[in-house]
Formats: sequence, structure tokens, C-alpha cells
Amino acid sequence: MDERLPLERYVTELFAVEDPILENIRARHAAENLPPINVSPEEGKLLHLLLLAIQAKRVLEIGSLGGYSGVWLARALPPAGTLITIEKDPHHARIAREAFRAAGLEGRVELIEGGALEVLPTLTPGFDAVFIDADKEPLPRYFDWGMRLLRTGGLLLCDNAFFHGAALDETDRSGNALGVRAFNKLAAADPRLVATIIPVRDGLVVGLKTRDSA
Ligand code: SAH
Ligand code: DHB
Ligand code: MG
Repeated sequence: MDERLPLERYVTELFAVEDPILENIRARHAAENLPPINVSPEEGKLLHLLLLAIQAKRVLEIGSLGGYSGVWLARALPPAGTLITIEKDPHHARIAREAFRAAGLEGRVELIEGGALEVLPTLTPGFDAVFIDADKEPLPRYFDWGMRLLRTGGLLLCDNAFFHGAALDETDRSGNALGVRAFNKLAAADPRLVATIIPVRDGLVVGLKTRDSA
């Protein structure tokens, strides 16, 4: 099932054609019954391009799932670069590790199995980019951690800025919707960030950390 808009397909077919490795990762997702909530090829290509633009070497991802976005991210890093990716679900973590091995990226990716709020305090600051794509209720806390762990000049990236329209629906008081709206407001207002939402797929927050303190 392909729910993407014709315009999204157009972008994918022109700019974000998958190689067999990425195709296989998505096939494996389906075979293993992982939820089909990985980034799309055009969003993956955008993440990849953003990392290349800042010559990222050390990147953090929160929410690995089956490794699809991780492969797009890690492929933008130099051979000595590192993607640290956090995943709490052991089944997802196993599939993601297999994906990184299949893509020849195992030397560049460190998957840490555990809950993000337990793992984040153990990490050393100085990341070039942080891509947030896990549970939505704690998003304000992931915002604080992202800002703490990013270097000045680094990119704060967060998937599902629209959350299927829930971001715009003030009557939706679910924990997920509240988390997404709170994150977007923090990103928009923080004087350390220059940020916007790129309306790719379900919305991608892109923020450049231009200074360390207000
Ligand atoms: N970035 C992936 C998709 C991630 S889906 C891609 O585009 O390919 C969200 C993932 O976050 C799921 O695998 C889920 O198990 C994981 N997750 C949810 N809450 C988490 C938490 N608190 N800590 C770590 N991982 C979490
Ligand atoms: C959903 C999609 C996502 O990209 C995500 O990170 C979490 C949930 C969803 O469609 O429910
Ligand atoms: Mg997502």
C-alpha cells in the first residue's frame, strides 16, 4: 500500500530512488511486521543532504525502528563518523542492527538498546545533528536533551511535526498531540535556534543551533 501523494512519488522517482539495500530494509520491515512508520525516501534524502551540508561526523537518532532512516543518516557520514541510535524495542533493535550490517555500515553505527530518557544522560555532548523520531509525549524533554547535546552550528531535526494533522487541532488533548505541539512551540521560540518546519511527509522540524545561550 502506497499512501503517498503523487507529488511525493514524483520527488522520490526523480531524487530519492532507493538502491536494493534500502528496498530490502523496507521489505524486511514488512516481513517482520514492524509498523510502517519509517521516514519516506524523500525525507530520508533530505536528512542525508542536511548532514552532508554541515559535514556531520557525530549524529544522534532517537528511535531506530528497523534502521531505514539510520541508513540514510549514516551514509552521509565519513568512514570515521558515528551515528548513535537509540531503540527501546528489542525486536526493532535486532532488525535495525541487521539493516546496518547489510548496508555495510556496522562500523559507523552504534545502536544503544534502551529507553531514550535513560540513555540520553549517558551521552557526551557535541553532536553535529540530533534526529528525534520516537514517542511523542516526552517531546519537550527530548527538545531539552537535543539542545544540550548539540554543538553550536548543529541541527535539531524532529519528525512528525504535523502528527497527521493533530498539531493543528487544539481540541486533541492526547499526550502525543500535546507533546508535538509543545515541541513545535519550543523550537519556534527558542532564541538559540533558527527553526522551521519543512512540509515533507508528516512534517520535519529543522532547527540550526546558532548560539549556546539566550
Ligand atoms: N526513525 C525510524 C522510525 C522510528 S519509529 C525510521 O524512520 O526508520 C519510532 C521508534 O521509536 C520505534 O521503533 C519505537 O520502538 C521507538 N521508541 C518509542 N519510544 C521510545 C523510547 N522512549 N526510547 C527509545 N525508543 C523508543
Ligand atoms: C507515526 C509515524 C511516525 O513517523 C512516527 O515517528 C510515529 C508514529 C504514526 O503514523 O503513527
Ligand atoms: Mg516519525
